[in-house]
Amino acid sequence: MVINVDLGARSYCIVVECGALDTVGARLSALGVGSRAALVSDATILRLYGKTVTRSLEGAGLLVAPVEVPEGEAAKTLAVAERCWEALLAAGLDRTSTVLALGGGAVGDVAGFAAATYMRGVSCVQLPTTVLAQVDASIGGKTAIDHPKAKNLIGAFHQPRLVICDPATTLTLSRREFRSGLAEIVKHGIVLDAAYFAEVERDAPALSARELPALERIIGGSCRLKAAVVERDEREAELRHVLNYGHTIGHALEAVTGYARFAHGEAVSLGIVAEARLALRLGLASEQTVRRQEGLLAAVGLPVRAAGIDGEAVLAAIARDKKARDGRVPFVLAPEIGAFRLVYDVPRSEVLAALGELRP
Ligand SMILES: NC(=O)c1ccc[n+]([C@@H]2O[C@H](COP(=O)([O-])OP(=O)(O)OC[C@H]3O[C@@H](n4cnc5c(N)ncnc54)[C@H](O)[C@@H]3O)[C@@H](O)[C@H]2O)c1
Ligand SMILES: [Zn+2]
Repeated sequence: MVINVDLGARSYCIVVECGALDTVGARLSALGVGSRAALVSDATILRLYGKTVTRSLEGAGLLVAPVEVPEGEAAKTLAVAERCWEALLAAGLDRTSTVLALGGGAVGDVAGFAAATYMRGVSCVQLPTTVLAQVDASIGGKTAIDHPKAKNLIGAFHQPRLVICDPATTLTLSRREFRSGLAEIVKHGIVLDAAYFAEVERDAPALSARELPALERIIGGSCRLKAAVVERDEREAELRHVLNYGHTIGHALEAVTGYARFAHGEAVSLGIVAEARLALRLGLASEQTVRRQEGLLAAVGLPVRAAGIDGEAVLAAIARDKKARDGRVPFVLAPEIGAFRLVYDVPRSEVLAALGELRP
């Protein structure tokens, strides 16, 4: 499946296909870029997929310099970005060259940031290898590194020239990492597309079993939904907030548990449950709408209840949310499957009560 992201001069394609990593070289040279490229990735991913990508690039006549970064969030620092700039310079990359990001969202973010800033911006190609990176982080051009005081504080919008998702790469993810990415897929269905949500409900067993045809179909569908949001709101003015569903509470749950207890998708799953219950409490959604969301999250193995959540601490973390505008934190709520509404000034007592409903 090929999805076009229409952003005028910054338009690009997302290819979603099992085995697509073999086609990186041919697809990149078809864009008419210069002959030099850097392949940014971490040790695990280079070991698993580095050869395939390098062979494909060299087969297309490109000169590739590997740039290894640390695994996970540790890659998103200024020191690592600086090491990337040094490596690009040493490999002779110029304004016509390309930076390829092969890995999860962390590699994508730091490589994208290096590409956005090196020589005021060179081409970036995203080759996402986690579910989260395929359906979310690789699309939309948000790049960032962390500041010691806040995640993703330093960054730039820099759209990729091309995104190539090979769903077969998700077969090597740990069970937990794999499932965590599914939370974004469920999120896309809930707030953006009822028919897609129903498709994920139908495919939940095949998806959990990581059957490739289901993975390709569902990941492709999710990329299409995220791409449509990005097309309508490239710079996160308003509509793109919809992608924050489950994240207002989810991010706060991650923060109050020191980013140690929950994987991101687990926190988002609990965030979706609490925000769904909040919509019910506010009289905006039906019991049935809440039940379907919880049902699908549970069906793909994500948590829908958690013990020991400190509601007051979660509220305080929400108030510090980066998405707050002038101190007001908007909640994205789902009045029904396939629809959303931004709601400001939700009473704190209702948020506390909704969080209380997470208790097992
Ligand atoms: N730019 C955006 O729009 C955006 C959106 C969402 C999240 N993010 C960012 O994405 C990051 C999280 O990304 P993530 O969840 O992909 O995790 P990650 O990038 O931190 O990777 C997690 C681990 O999975 C390993 N891994 C990756 N692919 C693998 C594979 N196919 N097989 C085996 N192991 C593999 C990595 O080596 C790493 O150890 C966060 O930093 C977050 O801020 C960015
Ligand atoms: Zn997320």
